Amino acid sequence: MKKVFFLALFCVTASLAKAEQVVVQTRHNTLVLNVEKGAQPKYVYYGAKLSALDLQHLQTPRADGRMEIYPAHGLNTPAEAALAMRHADGNLSTALIAESVEQNGDLTTINLKDPVYPITVKLKYKAYEEVDMIEAWTEITNGEKQPVTLTTFASAMMPIRRGDVWLSHFYGSWANEARLVEEPLTPGQKVIVNKDGTRNSHTDHGEVMFSLNGKGQENTGDVIGAAICYSGNYRLKVVTDDTDYHYFFAGINEDNSEYHLKKGETFKTPALALTFSQEGLSGVSRNFHKWGRTYKLMHGNKERKILLNSWEGVYFDINQKGMDQMMADIASMGGELFVMDDGWFGDKYPRKVDNSSLGDWVVDKNKLPEGIEGLLRDAKKNGVKFGIWIEPEMANTTSELYEKHPDWIVKAPNREPVLGRGGTQVVLDLSNPKVQDFVFSIVDNLMSKYPEIDYIKWDANMAIMNHGSQYLTMGNQSHLYIEYHRGFEKVCQRIRDKYPDVTIQACASGGGRANWGVLPWFDEFWVSDNTDALQRIYMQWGTSYFFPAIAMASHISATPNHTVFRTTSMKYRIDVAMSGRLGMEIQPKNMTDEEKALCRQAIKEYKQIRPIVQFGNIYRLVSPYDRKGLASMMYVTDQKDKAVWYWWKTESFQNEHLPRVKMAGLDANRMYKVHELNRIDLKPLDCEGKSYSGAYLMNHGLDVPYRNEVDWGKKTDWASRVLLLEAE
Ligand code: GLA
Repeated sequence: MKKVFFLALFCVTASLAKAEQVVVQTRHNTLVLNVEKGAQPKYVYYGAKLSALDLQHLQTPRADGRMEIYPAHGLNTPAEAALAMRHADGNLSTALIAESVEQNGDLTTINLKDPVYPITVKLKYKAYEEVDMIEAWTEITNGEKQPVTLTTFASAMMPIRRGDVWLSHFYGSWANEARLVEEPLTPGQKVIVNKDGTRNSHTDHGEVMFSLNGKGQENTGDVIGAAICYSGNYRLKVVTDDTDYHYFFAGINEDNSEYHLKKGETFKTPALALTFSQEGLSGVSRNFHKWGRTYKLMHGNKERKILLNSWEGVYFDINQKGMDQMMADIASMGGELFVMDDGWFGDKYPRKVDNSSLGDWVVDKNKLPEGIEGLLRDAKKNGVKFGIWIEPEMANTTSELYEKHPDWIVKAPNREPVLGRGGTQVVLDLSNPKVQDFVFSIVDNLMSKYPEIDYIKWDANMAIMNHGSQYLTMGNQSHLYIEYHRGFEKVCQRIRDKYPDVTIQACASGGGRANWGVLPWFDEFWVSDNTDALQRIYMQWGTSYFFPAIAMASHISATPNHTVFRTTSMKYRIDVAMSGRLGMEIQPKNMTDEEKALCRQAIKEYKQIRPIVQFGNIYRLVSPYDRKGLASMMYVTDQKDKAVWYWWKTESFQNEHLPRVKMAGLDANRMYKVHELNRIDLKPLDCEGKSYSGAYLMNHGLDVPYRNEVDWGKKTDWASRVLLLEAE
């Protein structure tokens, strides 16, 4: 007899009979597994929601695919495994057969066990009904008398039917983060790994999309989105061999990380978040953004302040007067927060450049004789909030901390440490509870002494260069990468338990910590140290696939840009920064009055559109990667009553023929009034103040001039537009 389990609001535990369908549903998605007592559970379906009738018609998995949803190594060894272990007696084979299924509200658990060895595995699926997300993870428990060694331990596996499946992923590095790559899946393996140790979104992102019907389109087509919610080393792998399916495995990167699971211990993998959309790549992005803002991102429902960060303005040249001046300047432009970056600390070793003092989190009294108190007083005087930079997981060998605790750094016993930034940087060993206490105390000391601190920029500028822990036993050296992140999470949780309100930015040499593993404790991340507006369009485009604008710190900076030395117009820099969480990172003292006036106007207008940008739904329209000479995207409110449309030219040639951009996401039947923001042109646009139907805007679109029409001496080769649309 075929039974069907539905996700229900009550608890059902069932021991299994024959071939039962386990169904996990969200508003528009269905996942179906086939679970039979004594057999391995099998994948049946993941995609658009199916009715009860359709579910009955689902065929049992075909023989020409290996459909085990969590294949274990040992009894079908040619197949790729999600789990492999060395049992206490040395046996390398594991069998996982179904025992029972529990459905309890939004959580489905499939209980598996090895029929010979007392190993139990729980496959967990948590449904986020409203936002079409399913989180999948695994819990492995050792019932053997001695430790077993886990050598492969994926969070989840998902077969994807072959056809014309394309992968979108996001490679990059420092100052060039989140570059979009789109490629068809071909036979062989596609492996995306991170081995940084501390941060994980340089090199490549832990998030991918699979477009199921050819190269992904932004607003049409079936797309699966997947994100590994982890802050450490990960591995995403697609195996395509001689069956009808691609096999997608995701989890912690097991390289040099075999895990000794003690008797009675449970190993919980990070979650893989999965969504499916029939509205293309942007549809998957909207699901991730909504899920993220509602359930994951710290303060996902709270508008972010407009800030000035001191880094590109003064770098290490911090002093009381300079900070006061920057606070006064950002306040005069309408900003709400000032963040003092690196360079404010160190007593015996004052932080003058990047080669000392990390670990010594006391104010440099030569630079700031009145201490943080003085800065807070000036912030109050200027009417802005105050924020501060720290890099708590790190130290320099030139620091009092290192002199006291050389055993606290990540380093293999018997080896000299490999040094990072400034030739002296080292990583603190977060597997050590004493180090966890110390890292917690950095925030705790600041916040308990100065509760007015409103914002913390938490940086992390070094990878684990030397594998090894002076705290872990020699037998458990392979636990370092995993224990580091367990320690990191514990510290973050302690901070949030005590300081739930402070805003915290995750920075890691720019965009090294853009992932759903850190965002439950952080409000936002720094997208990149590269603030060049043109390159930011490409990086923010890629980043927006999985992360909402509210989390993407995007700052107006000086020209020539300090990384790429490009000179863009102030209007262009503003128009790009205004598509994320707007801020400034510039020395206002060096700005002209005209530039300041433009920024003042931009900040005023951003306040007006802030809820649309920060809580709206994204529709990417023309990709910069398609090299059509422009890029365009928009945000639309849930009610579809307001939208902001961005148009940035990415090249400048004479006698160009750019496509007219069709908008998306509007209500076809409503009329929208158009108003240009950040206007610099001498004359208003033709469309200014006019109203157009949503249908017209989506089927035809607006023509805008290819250049900003300004006085002769002010013309530049940069052109951009930001339009506000308001339903009447
Ligand atoms: C990193 C960050 C920058 C800045 C510097 C300070 O590079 O990404 O934004 O904070 O450190 O040293």
